[in-house]
Amino acid sequence: MRQLRLLAEESTAPVPAGVRRRPVKDRLSALLDDGLDFAGARTGYASHHLHSFAAKFPPQLPRHFILGLTAPGDLVLDPMAGSGTTVVEAVLLGRRGVGVDLDPLAVQIGRVKTAAPPAAALGDAGRRVLTRARRLFEADGRCDELLAQRFDEPTRAFLDYWFLPTTQRELVALVTAAQDEPDPAVRRFLYLTISSIIVTKSGGVSLARDLAHSRPHRDVGKEPRSAFEQFRARLSRNLRSVTDMPSGEHALILQGDAAHLPLAGDSAHLIVTSPPYANAIDYMRAHKFSLVWLGHSIPDLSEWRARYIGAERLGGFVPPPLPPRSAGVVRALAERDGKKARILAKYFVAMGRVFGEMHRVLRPGAAAIVVVGTSTMRGLNVQTHLCLAEMSTRAGFEVVRIAERKLDRNRRMMPARFGRRGKSQIEERMYHEYVLGLLKAARRPLPRRRAGARPGTPTADRASIARTNAHRESLLD
Ligand SMILES: C[S@@+](CC[C@H](N)C(=O)[O-])C[C@H]1O[C@@H](n2cnc3c(N)ncnc32)[C@H](O)[C@@H]1O
Repeated sequence: MRQLRLLAEESTAPVPAGVRRRPVKDRLSALLDDGLDFAGARTGYASHHLHSFAAKFPPQLPRHFILGLTAPGDLVLDPMAGSGTTVVEAVLLGRRGVGVDLDPLAVQIGRVKTAAPPAAALGDAGRRVLTRARRLFEADGRCDELLAQRFDEPTRAFLDYWFLPTTQRELVALVTAAQDEPDPAVRRFLYLTISSIIVTKSGGVSLARDLAHSRPHRDVGKEPRSAFEQFRARLSRNLRSVTDMPSGEHALILQGDAAHLPLAGDSAHLIVTSPPYANAIDYMRAHKFSLVWLGHSIPDLSEWRARYIGAERLGGFVPPPLPPRSAGVVRALAERDGKKARILAKYFVAMGRVFGEMHRVLRPGAAAIVVVGTSTMRGLNVQTHLCLAEMSTRAGFEVVRIAERKLDRNRRMMPARFGRRGKSQIEERMYHEYVLGLLKAARRPLPRRRAGARPGTPTADRASIARTNAHRESLLD
């Protein structure tokens, strides 16, 4: 019922002075003129640091636009929500937040960050799990049996390559113990706490380094610490993270494709999002380290991976005609590397579909903020921000302005891989990123009704929202 309320409710709260008084376009333009670097700002408040996530943006970024462009009760959407930063900010500011992401780990992170049960209940459950897990670990041969039952061949091979046998036993004991907790929301928090000792910025219980940057490499010299000890330490930290969150009544995180959003047309008051960068981060490469422990198999995850925007798998993709700038960049890249050029074209086409969906679900006259960096492919700067701006106009948006922001490299975790000259290509291109301010045109005034004709649109809207909600209920666990 919570989800139905979230989406069907209209905003009834009083509109604060200043918000909505000036035209959206002027406000958007002024907001883009403000400094958007947020250098040195504290980013770890509320649940924002619950779990590592590559390339999440600072919470101040969505906050800035939510405060400037929406009122309490409004619906804020992030169609590629990642770790849920926009949705967390929306609910902290009394708005309704909806996040969609394809990535199963991102969805779990977003759900826990926006709707965790009370910390006291989670703490008790965490301690129970640790006790049960230690008991399982000590029962002779029990963990080896569990490992044999739980995983198929390819997944076992993956685990044997990346995790020491003792760590595997500890982790299987932890997930088995967490599985026995009856409340699904409590279980989600516990699974995520287990995941956060695997996908970490440094350390972590696998043999991989750089997992949080999504560029794992095996380090045989690494001596991973005890998963039980890591779980205990991380539990107290994660309990502190969720203490400040509101009840979660006004947040909804869905697994889905940004090119097919499960939302009614004209329903969102604001979109703040950051798509994958062209050719930059392969989320599944790192997330599978956790997802295998949460019930996914390696073959199943490989299938999934091909569907991400920016994925390198081309299948039978034949590029359709692109608008001039994007077509020019793809042509120039094709002279250096034909395959990379098709990957880039596929990225532009996918983003074109996402812009189409964003345009459909936004209310007329509302804004979308898209944060993206540019990429260097085969030595060519592909000017992603300008090409995406072009794709967005094709979907019907007006580009109000493109602002530039400096990245705080200590905060926004980007893939770090240093080459011979000290910097990788990825490293070089990621000191700046761009903030696109897009606007959906306001609706033209309706033609005057004939005397006696009955207005039908509100009822039709309600029916479509009810249908969407019913569909969404079936997606939720
Ligand atoms: C740069 S991250 C977003 C980070 C987010 N702003 C945050 O603060 O955590 C981009 C996200 O797009 C998601 N993504 C990729 N392809 C997608 C698709 N087709 N539909 C929805 N999400 C997708 C990825 O899984 C990833 O979580």
